[in-house]
Amino acid sequence: MKSPLSFIKASRDKIQLVNQKLLPHKLDYVTCHNATDVAKAIKDMVVRGAPAIGISAAYGMYLSAWEASKKNKKITVELLKKQKDLLDASRPTAVNLSWATGEMVAVAAAFLSSDAARTKDAPLKLLLKLYDKALEIHNDDAERCRAMAANAMKYLVTKYPKEKYNILTHCNTGSLATGGIGTALGVIRLLNEKGKIEMVYADETRPYMQGSRLTAFELLKDKIPVTLTVDSQAGYLMQKKLIDAVFVGADRIARNGDVANKIGTYSLSVLAKAHRIPFFVVAPQSTFDETIETGNQIVVEERNPTEVLEIAGRVIAPKVKALNYSFDITPQANITAIFSEKETLE
Ligand code: MRU
Repeated sequence: MKSPLSFIKASRDKIQLVNQKLLPHKLDYVTCHNATDVAKAIKDMVVRGAPAIGISAAYGMYLSAWEASKKNKKITVELLKKQKDLLDASRPTAVNLSWATGEMVAVAAAFLSSDAARTKDAPLKLLLKLYDKALEIHNDDAERCRAMAANAMKYLVTKYPKEKYNILTHCNTGSLATGGIGTALGVIRLLNEKGKIEMVYADETRPYMQGSRLTAFELLKDKIPVTLTVDSQAGYLMQKKLIDAVFVGADRIARNGDVANKIGTYSLSVLAKAHRIPFFVVAPQSTFDETIETGNQIVVEERNPTEVLEIAGRVIAPKVKALNYSFDITPQANITAIFSEKETLE
């Protein structure tokens, strides 16, 4: 499999993020020099997708430390915690974000309380440690993608054997959303490699159109058969027996297996259950939130109503209120299995 387009180019003094707002029409990059730039890019949806925002935030914290050291300021745990708070607030639902920023603070805290912190070149050593950690979070995610996709594919072909599959997916869960081949889209990529994809039905994913703009773009680029479908068509496709399985990603998974994911995921799960179609979630361990018992405890981000009221900057519904929950919660009972790099939860 050829490496798909990465959402990020990282170096020691900056990161460049693919501006996902401009895709598929234009491939352009936004340059970030510190955590403030990265937080803005996350808030503005230049970069999105739970693992991708976690990776970007990790680099953002390193860059802020680097910027501080260039100005001869001390790199302290307090400084990093301040950047963490800023980044964590930029998209509250995806736990990968606060997980990654927490890992960066932990690296700094461990170093600053060690003997190495009292040596002459301590600031440089700390910067190297922070950069290496961000790189590790990035590279690990690529490996996790491969492993969870392999787990999911093995499960599907064993429990639901078929020559070729028709898969329905929601939002964008590919290389634009992760450090590797993707979560749900990673499974689709592996299945396609084995010649086992008949058709991928990609929900357009209102209001932000991650399906039309990003998933269709990724799949067309990889020559994987894809058909775009409006979100409200899912039930009819299932009724017509056009869908063999649903694969989605996740932004946060509670201890009981409830899943927060892009708005519309819950409706899909209800439809899949009614039509006895397996409904699968694919997510790395960094998406599991061990601190919460159920999905009721997940903070669901509400985004600006203009995302609903406008299309491509043009107002389509003037003078009306709009409600724009960015995610919803799918109860564990509606999910056939959750695949991570470590395990399969049924
Ligand atoms: O608002 P977005 O585009 O960040 O939402 C993305 C999703 O809901 C994805 O399904 C989720 O982040 C998992 S992506 C690997």
